[in-house]
Amino acid sequence: MKSVGLFKSLPIEDPESLVERDISTPIPGDADLLVRVEAIAVNPADYRVRRRKADDGAFAVLGWDVAGELVATGSAGAGVSVGDAVSYAGDLPRPGGTSEFHAVNAAIVGHRPTLLTPAQAAALPLTALTAWEALFDRFGLSPDASSERRTLLIVGGAGGVGSIAIQLARLVPGLTVIATASRPLSRAWCERLGAHGRRYERIETGRSRLP
Ligand SMILES: NC(=O)c1ccc[n+]([C@@H]2O[C@H](COP(=O)([O-])OP(=O)(O)OC[C@H]3O[C@@H](n4cnc5c(N)ncnc54)[C@H](OP(=O)(O)O)[C@@H]3O)[C@@H](O)[C@H]2O)c1
Repeated sequence: MKSVGLFKSLPIEDPESLVERDISTPIPGDADLLVRVEAIAVNPADYRVRRRKADDGAFAVLGWDVAGELVATGSAGAGVSVGDAVSYAGDLPRPGGTSEFHAVNAAIVGHRPTLLTPAQAAALPLTALTAWEALFDRFGLSPDASSERRTLLIVGGAGGVGSIAIQLARLVPGLTVIATASRPLSRAWCERLGAHGRRYERIETGRSRLP
């Protein structure tokens, strides 16, 4: 199958920094599913893995946020069937999904939202899981909570995680959502996503104050 990856870390401007190769189609293990890849998203994790790739001659495939169609299930196909549209944030120690086919543990795969294109669905998994786990698992917030008045500060609200966190946090009754953003464009994006915000004005000392 065709795959895009790298042999060693090179500046991204170098034509050899990412190269196409034919590699063996993965054979899914008992706990795996085999997915025909339709879209992958580039996450900061890809950048970090690419920068740290050892110059050991091995071909590494990036791309762990994946949307695709299920083409085979191992013995662990519970809840999904061949032909289903799926998406997932893959497993970093395993090869990424920038290939025609990808083997992935069934436990981390879900049906993808039907209203989203494959590219849109691939953009969501890792940032959305991170934001969801932070807000609902770690902070204990809930969309069903009573409307106790609380305030959440999201630093870097326009970022991948922040932009999802703003939207999820707005589902929590009684929660005021404040986001930081350094540029007019990122501030407008945070406000469009639902941040309540506060407009700060930079003064000569370099510190900020409320207008
Ligand atoms: N991306 C993921 O899937 C993921 C998963 C797990 C954990 N994380 C962690 O979550 C954090 C955010 O990641 P992200 O992917 O959402 O980041 P990101 O998309 O790169 O966004 C970072 C945001 O932070 C602001 N920012 C950038 N440089 C800054 C600086 N020097 N000082 C202050 N603000 C700065 C920018 O805001 P302005 O545009 O307003 O300048 C930008 O919108 C990181 O610590 C990352 O390791 C990310």
